[in-house]
Amino acid sequence: MPGPVLLLGAPGVGKGTQAKLLMAEFGIPQISTGDILRDQRTRRTELGLLADGLMSKGQLVPDDLVNRMVEIRLKQPDCANGYILDGFPRTIAQADWLDGHLSRTDPERPLIAVSLIVDYEVLLRRITGRLISPAGRIYNVYTNPPQVPGRCDVDGSVLEQRADDRVAVFEDRMKVFGQDTAAVIEHYRAQGRFAEVDGDRPVEMVMESIVGALRALRTEAQASSAPVAG
Ligand code: AP5
Repeated sequence: MPGPVLLLGAPGVGKGTQAKLLMAEFGIPQISTGDILRDQRTRRTELGLLADGLMSKGQLVPDDLVNRMVEIRLKQPDCANGYILDGFPRTIAQADWLDGHLSRTDPERPLIAVSLIVDYEVLLRRITGRLISPAGRIYNVYTNPPQVPGRCDVDGSVLEQRADDRVAVFEDRMKVFGQDTAAVIEHYRAQGRFAEVDGDRPVEMVMESIVGALRALRTEAQASSAPVAG
């Protein structure tokens, strides 16, 4: 059902948390440009080393590098039935690239987009309370603590705070969001096939709203692209 899905919103709004639930619900992969960049950084590739300096300051990695990374990822066979883009596009240049790429490679299935909304103070608390396992499981000391402090519930690994989850870097990430990414949200709002969801509710309630919105948007998109009878 889903085809290409965008999850949009500010740092800490819950994109990663929800993308993982949507993966399980729809059986399609999450493509997080942040996770791909962090993996490149861990493997100390050229891209990872470049990204490291930018990410630790809350700045964006150049569009052409990120676009190329996404282009390669979208060619993987697990994307055939759809995918959830989390953290991409983040600039109008990335959105224009994605729109052009999909109109060439996947014209039958237009993008559908959901934007999550959460207030600044709640975002700050979520970001400063977040802990991540090496396998990418997301916890929060305030809202979703692990059973044993500092350890992953699933594999017992040591949880870590992301280097960019310090208050000063969060403020810079929010500035970048306002300068660059807010315009991307308006871009997809203007295209239609877009819904806004209140992300400041329990995780399962947010998930139900997103799933409902995605089903409605996909049905609408299919109806508007169907050939007119007669
Ligand atoms: P990225 O990793 O994409 O970070 P982000 O967009 O800032 O988003 P986050 O991962 O911080 O938050 P999230 O919305 O996924 O929230 P989460 O679910 O974890 O990017 C990092 C960096 O990489 C960028 O700054 C940039 O440098 C670079 N980059 C990435 N993509 C790029 C691109 N396209 N172009 C250029 N550069 C790029 O939740 C947060 C916390 O809240 C968790 O602890 C969670 O448990 C908790 N939580 C979630 N939902 C709820 C809820 N409903 N109730 C209570 N708590 C909740």
